[in-house]
Amino acid sequence: MKKYKSPLYGCIDLTYDCNLSCKHCVFINNDISEKKLTTKEVKHILDDFEEKKLIGVQLSGGEPLLRKDFIEILQYASKKKYAVSIATNGTLINDSIIEEFKKCNVKNVQLSIDGFEKSNDFLRGEGTFKKITNILDKLVNEDIPVSIVTMITKQNINEIEYMLKYLKDIKILYWRLQYILGNKIMDSLNIFDYINVYEKIKKIIDADKLPINIMMPCYIHEKNPKQSCDNLLINITEDGSISNCFFNNTQNYEFVSLKSLSKEVNYQFENDYYICSKALD
Ligand SMILES: C[S@@+](CC[C@H](N)C(=O)[O-])C[C@H]1O[C@@H](n2cnc3c(N)ncnc32)[C@H](O)[C@@H]1O
Ligand code: SF4
Repeated sequence: MKKYKSPLYGCIDLTYDCNLSCKHCVFINNDISEKKLTTKEVKHILDDFEEKKLIGVQLSGGEPLLRKDFIEILQYASKKKYAVSIATNGTLINDSIIEEFKKCNVKNVQLSIDGFEKSNDFLRGEGTFKKITNILDKLVNEDIPVSIVTMITKQNINEIEYMLKYLKDIKILYWRLQYILGNKIMDSLNIFDYINVYEKIKKIIDADKLPINIMMPCYIHEKNPKQSCDNLLINITEDGSISNCFFNNTQNYEFVSLKSLSKEVNYQFENDYYICSKALD
């Protein structure tokens, strides 16, 4: 297996505060320390990422735009050699922030849309679908690269195919189909139904040669899972702790083959999939 001397991508969770309280969220309302990285500390990490020759850095959260120094941090990061992206719920983006994204040459604004209005608002809160799609239209019109993350749920499972058409029509190139972690939502979708939807969407994209790339979350892999995890990502939490894993699990990744699980429940898949055991906890 290829080893990297340092990670290729960095992510800084600037804050776990958020202006929304999505039903499924694992980031807010957990026992996060009161301490938050100061502006100076964030800049120091951004310097360090450049020194370590990272190729991409994402500013995330919680909701990163809630930080009063967000624009200062973004401007600082944009002077570095790596590509800068932002993961945001989109609701706080306004015209002046869009101008900053342009000036700072932001390489990707990642927005979450969890289905059409009813299902999105069920998870993200009333009125969020309209707000996010308005912002999405503005970003697309301003030629800012946008990618979308969609949590597949029991509520939106039948809308994913229509979402594909919607995202294709507005020329979105990258779409992550997310599988929910944790037990925040009672009666959440099972992993087999998730994979079925993913495979169905992939087939449509391939058959129609659509210019949109779909991705799975980092805790589900189609091939050799170890290669996808080890050493590729460094994640900094709001208090400055370091991990190279979403689950703060820095070693002993254990992947469960979906084919072996599927025998028990009589499902058939075209490919094997590996699920991080932490995601099945
Ligand atoms: C932590 S948020 C940060 C950016 C922003 N707050 C947002 O919601 O897009 C990044 C992504 O993590 C996802 N997320 C939150 N809780 C999750 C969970 N329990 N399982 C999987 N993804 C989750 C969100 O839906 C969102 O797409
Ligand atoms: S907007 Fe993002 S961080 Fe905020 S509650 Fe929703 S998923 Fe969590």
